[in-house]
Amino acid sequence: MQLKIRIRHRPNELLIALIIAVISANSTMARQTSQGKQDKNQTVNSISFDSRAILINGERQLLISGEMHYARSPRELWPQLLDRSVNMGLNCVASYIFWGFHEPQKDVYDFSGQRDIGYFLKLCKERNLKVILRMGPYCCAEWNYGGYPSYLRDEPGITIRTYNTPYLIRVEKYFEHLAAELRPYLATNGGPVILIQVENEYESVAQRYGKEGKRYLKWVVELAARLQLNVQTITCAGGAPGAIECVNGHSISLEGITYHQSKYPDQPLIWTELWPAWYDTWGYQHHLRDARNIAFNVLNFLGNGGSGWNYYMWHGGTNFGRTSMYLQTTSYDFDAPLDEYGRPTLKGLYLARLHKAVKANSKIFLNSERIQKNLSSGIKKTTWSNGKELLTVFVNETDHLCTEDNLTLLPRSARLFDSEGKLLFDSQSDYQATQSAIKLHEWESPVALQNWMIWNEPMPSARIDDFVKNLQPVEQLSLTHDQTDYCWYSNSFTTTAKGQQKIDITYGGDFFYIYLDGKLLTQSQPPFSENRGLTMPEDADHPYVFANALEKLNLRGFQHSFILKDVLMGKHRLDILATALGLVKGDWQISGSMNTERKGIWQDVLVNNKVITNWEMRPFLLGEQLNIPAQLKSVNWIKPIKPNPCTWFNTSFQLTQAVLQSDADYRIDASGLGKGMLFMNGHMLGRYWLIEGNGYGPDESWQNLAREGLSLAPAGLPTQRYYHVPKAWLKENNQLIIFEEQLNLPAKVKLQIRTMN
Ligand code: GAL
Repeated sequence: MQLKIRIRHRPNELLIALIIAVISANSTMARQTSQGKQDKNQTVNSISFDSRAILINGERQLLISGEMHYARSPRELWPQLLDRSVNMGLNCVASYIFWGFHEPQKDVYDFSGQRDIGYFLKLCKERNLKVILRMGPYCCAEWNYGGYPSYLRDEPGITIRTYNTPYLIRVEKYFEHLAAELRPYLATNGGPVILIQVENEYESVAQRYGKEGKRYLKWVVELAARLQLNVQTITCAGGAPGAIECVNGHSISLEGITYHQSKYPDQPLIWTELWPAWYDTWGYQHHLRDARNIAFNVLNFLGNGGSGWNYYMWHGGTNFGRTSMYLQTTSYDFDAPLDEYGRPTLKGLYLARLHKAVKANSKIFLNSERIQKNLSSGIKKTTWSNGKELLTVFVNETDHLCTEDNLTLLPRSARLFDSEGKLLFDSQSDYQATQSAIKLHEWESPVALQNWMIWNEPMPSARIDDFVKNLQPVEQLSLTHDQTDYCWYSNSFTTTAKGQQKIDITYGGDFFYIYLDGKLLTQSQPPFSENRGLTMPEDADHPYVFANALEKLNLRGFQHSFILKDVLMGKHRLDILATALGLVKGDWQISGSMNTERKGIWQDVLVNNKVITNWEMRPFLLGEQLNIPAQLKSVNWIKPIKPNPCTWFNTSFQLTQAVLQSDADYRIDASGLGKGMLFMNGHMLGRYWLIEGNGYGPDESWQNLAREGLSLAPAGLPTQRYYHVPKAWLKENNQLIIFEEQLNLPAKVKLQIRTMN
């Protein structure tokens, strides 16, 4: 979602909020919400909450949680990721469960291998980690279609994310399968799962769905209960009866907290998404966030009464295959505490120090009286005291240096002291200490990639397989069912004189190549906006219903215009290659319900302002149909002569057992390539695109986020140059395959290795 609407201040409601907050401030009456069934062989835990915290068996819990998506890392890496997280002071992990990952085809459910959520939860339990499961049905998360299976779009009569029968039927069916997998792992049945989140940030679409939307949200909470998912249910940024509503943001302001607590005086304050930076989109710069700002915000949140926070992401991982949402890069590094490869970063090691200090005192934070004062210097002081012990946090939220007695605090910094005045954590000096202790590991390229062979993807005119013929262009997803990014649209037109020709695609997505008479002449001009506006013209059946003002900003984001220069007089064959960049993650990207998502071409194409008809559509590349990445021998490879667009490349390389057994990470340096797909030993590593990062990021509000410690990598570098190769997918003899859409050879492509000595 966009940040502008995330950080909310509603001063007009503050007074009421304050009165309610004072009345309820020290309410410690625990509300029992769930109790597991008695089973002699299982530890049975009860989960409840009071206004200060989540309780397990009646005991308040400080949740130091990190989000990692099991779908974004190979299964072989899960144990290491969890071990490192424990060592770095987490006592909880959170993960979304992506519906489309577990129902890859309609009515085919898969919870095995890479999709074995039970195994992931077992590993968590073995490490004594609590788990927050964010089970959807809608997730968001920059995942293809926000986690939904793409078949949903084409269910007759469906409207997604509201009280609509065709939608509810599919949700219920999936939840029944999912609940059967999850039940043994609930805390109430002796497992690690203490909280389940349903839906996600519903308030960002609530206006579009009105009463029916609210009814749906309530229905999902009830469905989880009906399916005996009897731990505590939560929601974030959009509440529902029966669930604790949690908050998301880079920071959570005191005004925001006061307002939130006025709505929910007897709920604890839990931060479900603390963003340690941000995700990256093609054509924009990489996002970064200063770790000191994060620690300052955590201590500030604790001081303001928070009792749980979840880093989103703690480990971002990788969008392997075609799992990225529209425009999301293959890397989901997020500048997170564990890097894309799962290794602790400076940020992570620094936060580990914070966790140690906080965890050692969690009982005092949770069970003693909290008093907050604004000192004259501008410093905010919070103390927790139980008569015997005392903890003090000082924070400077201002933009200037503040001094109070012997204490000087830089802007946006914080310190934690114990009863004797001993410094337990300092957001500044602990950072320097971590910096001087960290050991860096370099990437090297010890294995040369050479002897590339090629196979040219045939142009549509040379293809003899079946195609679809129609007067109007047929929308791509209805042909591909999202099983490929590619679809050719072919036609012809006649010019009466030599000269410039104009081609307009009135509604189309995402990235197009225009071929005339078999030759690539031009292509789409990014950067694209992440939020592109409506996918269809308004008519009586499709009246616009905007969920917020931002959705109105971009009304023609799907329009494409191309100029072809010096076209000779006569008849010309036109082939347009449509390439998809992932399905949207949410309504706001297309200013409409997610079932209005479209790819390819779905309205008129004009040549010199005249509509052309009689189209031939060829979904899938021929190389995909032949399954080249798994069946190398299905085509005849030759030595490259000169670069051609739309070419498959292949090479093989060896790794010794010594290398394979070392503790190392692997990546492809894709320098010199344009745009396409990478495959290693039959696994699709992801989409690649060497497009330069020059824009600001998701929107211009990024310029104003310096106060949150956010920054951007230098402009002019590729948004993503390096591509994660999981060690688990490598062996002694390896096959690397590239499908390159543009006019490049892989001469500079390298395999890089980072060894942990
Ligand atoms: C939140 C959303 C997450 C993720 C995050 C940005 O708004 O709930 O799923 O998309 O933004 O990374």
